[in-house]
Amino acid sequence: MAVVVAESEARHILDIAEGFMKSQVLFTSLKLGIFDLLDKSAAPMTAVRISEAIRADTDATKRLLNACAGLGLLLKENVDKETGDGEYQLTQATRTFLTPSSSTNLGDWLGRLAVVFSSPWGDLPKAVKEGPTFSTLNGLDRGRTFEDVYSTEKYFMGAMEGLTTVFGARTASAFDLAEFQNICDIGGCTGPLAYHLAAAYPKAAVSVFDLPEVVKVAEDRRPVAEHAERVSFIPGGRKNRT
Ligand SMILES: C[S@@+](CC[C@H](N)C(=O)[O-])C[C@H]1O[C@@H](n2cnc3c(N)ncnc32)[C@H](O)[C@@H]1O
Repeated sequence: MAVVVAESEARHILDIAEGFMKSQVLFTSLKLGIFDLLDKSAAPMTAVRISEAIRADTDATKRLLNACAGLGLLLKENVDKETGDGEYQLTQATRTFLTPSSSTNLGDWLGRLAVVFSSPWGDLPKAVKEGPTFSTLNGLDRGRTFEDVYSTEKYFMGAMEGLTTVFGARTASAFDLAEFQNICDIGGCTGPLAYHLAAAYPKAAVSVFDLPEVVKVAEDRRPVAEHAERVSFIPGGRKNRT
């Protein structure tokens, strides 16, 4: 007896399988600085101008830009009907979430996914077979532990800040903490969640406990706002070197 399944279910399976291609389009565009370039440009740019600016092959750049447009990461306008060439610019969402000039930039987090996380995920069959004994430094420099990477890299701090700046307000209000006079975010990085907590709970003293090297840079990244003045930083913790 024939089994009837909807085409949408096949699409769902293919979407999962082909997801890595979409990721690579995004990761590559970020790595080549395309979103940053368009952010700084006064006007939309052609593929030729973009490829010159990023010193890449023009045809391959065009294909990458068209993939971005297909995925809704870029807008393609003024398209020549014969050649298919056009001009590219950022969407509102890519300007908000994928450019270093934006306070809600997720680019550092996506860069960590591309550089640090994507390679160990390639070892997933091995991890499932081996269970808790599985270990990989795949994708990390030899001699650097994961803790080393995630506690000191400025990109990691940018990654944590981007994510929490976007989602932190909802996190801060997910529980009613109004009865507490002191709130401490342990492992709170440079304080993105703490600033949301200080804004949500004006009567609370909010502190962040994190490694000394993280606290050292936190002061330089303090936002200018009244509630931000109520956040203090406590350096501590032990860094395990292996
Ligand atoms: C995954 S991040 C979480 C950041 C933040 N809580 C958030 O959700 O965005 C982990 C944080 O823990 C800090 N950390 C790691 N080991 C630590 C230790 N031994 N003592 C104190 N902080 C540590 C790192 O520096 C980093 O900021």
